[in-house]
Amino acid sequence: MTPRPDLLARLALHTQQREQANLRRRLHTIDRVDGPWIERGGRRLLSFCSNDYLGLAQHPALVAALKQAADDDGVGSGSAHLIAGHRTAHAALEEALAEWTGRERAMLFSTGYMANLGVMQALLERGDLCVQDKLNHACLLDGAQLAGAELKRYPHADVEAAARQLAHRGDAPALLATDGVFSMDGDIAPLAELAALCRREGTTLMVDDAHGLGVLGARGEGAVPEAGLGADDVPVLMATLGKAVGCSGAFVAGSVALIDGLVQFARTYIYTTAMPPALAAATLAAVRLAQTETWRREKLRALIARFRHGAHELGLPLMPSATAIQPLLLGDAQAAMHAAASLERQGFLVTAIRPPTVPQGKSRLRITLSAMHEEGDVDRLLEALSRLPAGQPV
Ligand SMILES: Cc1ncc(COP(=O)(O)O)c(C=O)c1O
Repeated sequence: MTPRPDLLARLALHTQQREQANLRRRLHTIDRVDGPWIERGGRRLLSFCSNDYLGLAQHPALVAALKQAADDDGVGSGSAHLIAGHRTAHAALEEALAEWTGRERAMLFSTGYMANLGVMQALLERGDLCVQDKLNHACLLDGAQLAGAELKRYPHADVEAAARQLAHRGDAPALLATDGVFSMDGDIAPLAELAALCRREGTTLMVDDAHGLGVLGARGEGAVPEAGLGADDVPVLMATLGKAVGCSGAFVAGSVALIDGLVQFARTYIYTTAMPPALAAATLAAVRLAQTETWRREKLRALIARFRHGAHELGLPLMPSATAIQPLLLGDAQAAMHAAASLERQGFLVTAIRPPTVPQGKSRLRITLSAMHEEGDVDRLLEALSRLPAGQPV
């Protein structure tokens, strides 16, 4: 009998292979954050890689709400929502999120990853069809696999390919899931066309608006209303609270029937500790600011336009994105790493995104803008990008 392979040895081998392919991921500890500035290893860097798009994460109103709620109620929720963990702060936040997104109800999850796993596993049964954009976030893909659905991935934003995949099994219960704003590309899904397709095909449409909420829509309601769609078109809406909202966690919004069903069957909701109520209180303060301080969205929009204009003038390989995510496509993983290192030497923190997060040959600098930045910050970044060694960007 051949000896049983050792799991830790196999994992170590995979890590070593990743190192040899120059694709090893490294963890860096940030010592301090001050608006768009971070301190790391004794150096102060201007960051262009945060998802705090509206600049709310350090807002005094959030900090005060968190402190007040912690003074009143302590830190941990103490148990799962369905046991004794669901507090008034959670209920108030859910109500505000439902109102913001124009849905009957909303339900909190501890992370976006868990929300997507929970929704998929509650909605889909073994053998059901789940059609997804190839560039969807990892947790949507994992969710379909966890549910045992037949996962079909269509080429990015290709509605006709999605239609063919649905038609292929016209009698199967089907979910079409898409990012609203694609996390590594920044472009917006063709939501109106996808909604029309789902209507024709009797398919449920789910949108993960992690990067659209707060940024798109007149009151920051996200990509769905921006596309002229409502709750009937997109019955399953998920968004995160750790990006433009500046906190942590996520929610699913939809009909009473959807949320009732998730309470019964979403295992990542049922079998986990509820988020700290103080965090829910801080998040409610953030939601109010995200809705009412429209200047944040306007400033962000102006910075995006300034960056795109400058990058275009410099002939940089900008990807087509109208959102806070402005990737520069460099192709080769090494080129992306060198560009990020060169920017760091010039005082900027911009992350290189490489396979397997993005496809081979599609490595990039994922530049993100925030209402925290000033015009001068964007201009300095452009100057630094123009100084990248010849051949980078390609
Ligand atoms: C599109 C998308 N969905 C879901 C998630 C997961 O959310 P969370 O970080 O709250 O787990 C992310 C990123 O983190 C994302 O970009």
